[in-house]
Amino acid sequence: MKVSIIGAGGLVGSSAAFALQCGGIVREIALLDVNLEAAEGQALDIMHGGPSTADQIIVAGGYEHVTDSDVICITAGLRRQPDESRLDLINRNTDLFVGILDEINKVGTKPGAIVFVVSNPVDILTYVAAKRLGLPLSQVIGLGTQLDTIRFRSLIAAELGIAPTQTSALILGEHGESMVPIWSSATFAGVALDRHPNWTPALANELFTRTRGSGAEVIRKKGGAGFAVGIAIRDVIESIALDSQKVLPVSSVQEGCYDIHDVALSVPTVIGRAGVVDRLEIELWPKEIQGLRASGNALRQTIATVMQRIGS
Ligand code: 2OP
Repeated sequence: MKVSIIGAGGLVGSSAAFALQCGGIVREIALLDVNLEAAEGQALDIMHGGPSTADQIIVAGGYEHVTDSDVICITAGLRRQPDESRLDLINRNTDLFVGILDEINKVGTKPGAIVFVVSNPVDILTYVAAKRLGLPLSQVIGLGTQLDTIRFRSLIAAELGIAPTQTSALILGEHGESMVPIWSSATFAGVALDRHPNWTPALANELFTRTRGSGAEVIRKKGGAGFAVGIAIRDVIESIALDSQKVLPVSSVQEGCYDIHDVALSVPTVIGRAGVVDRLEIELWPKEIQGLRASGNALRQTIATVMQRIGS
């Protein structure tokens, strides 16, 4: 399977390329960037590691790589300042993002290609991509709260001293301020998290607050996320590549799950080679459903403004 990463000259895109190399599942990784020299440098650096990782084709280039890609991952965009929300980025990133979509439309994509949006604000831009590319909604996915979910799991595990891979806790809704912690189904090694001897409601609030602020915390400390967002991107792309049917909290334009329509946000989503295979309306606490719908309403306001601005 071939993956093109647009914006691969930067930290997020190059981290995604490196994560896909270490995963060894995809056959070809094309690194695209407006700064071609940067994309070429990242590709060269990644290719050098090939003999010890996987037999893959690692190339840098332009939109010619989009036409035969199975997944087109868009990571390009300006990063926010620590005190900025992801939604604040919308004015700066929309024009750049629409320009990328128009280039993709110009060269065309192969039947069944999946467009995978990472650029922020990811839910808004996933919606814009779904509308502007004219692809089936199932073929346009946003990274959504997959990154928030693995951050959440990692912080819970570190605090309780349990195995991160055995810690299961979802974040749904907006990849942003209105994201929703899903405690109702949180477990460790299959046991309800609130059965852990060190679990308290205060700790739950503290862990979610830190999760929600993790993007800004990483920006403050090192300028922006790379490793974990690369892993989160790999999780989604490899579920597509292997047709794994994994249930992942990723963003897509909603068509009625939890009675939410016409806004992109993250719900439990079955991801396979066809993209969005299904959405699972798992049972949630009433306040979690309310949070999800509030997330949709917050995003819908911005979507209306953006769609009016770009005229489509
Ligand atoms: C983050 O939360 C890049 O939005 C991403 O770090």
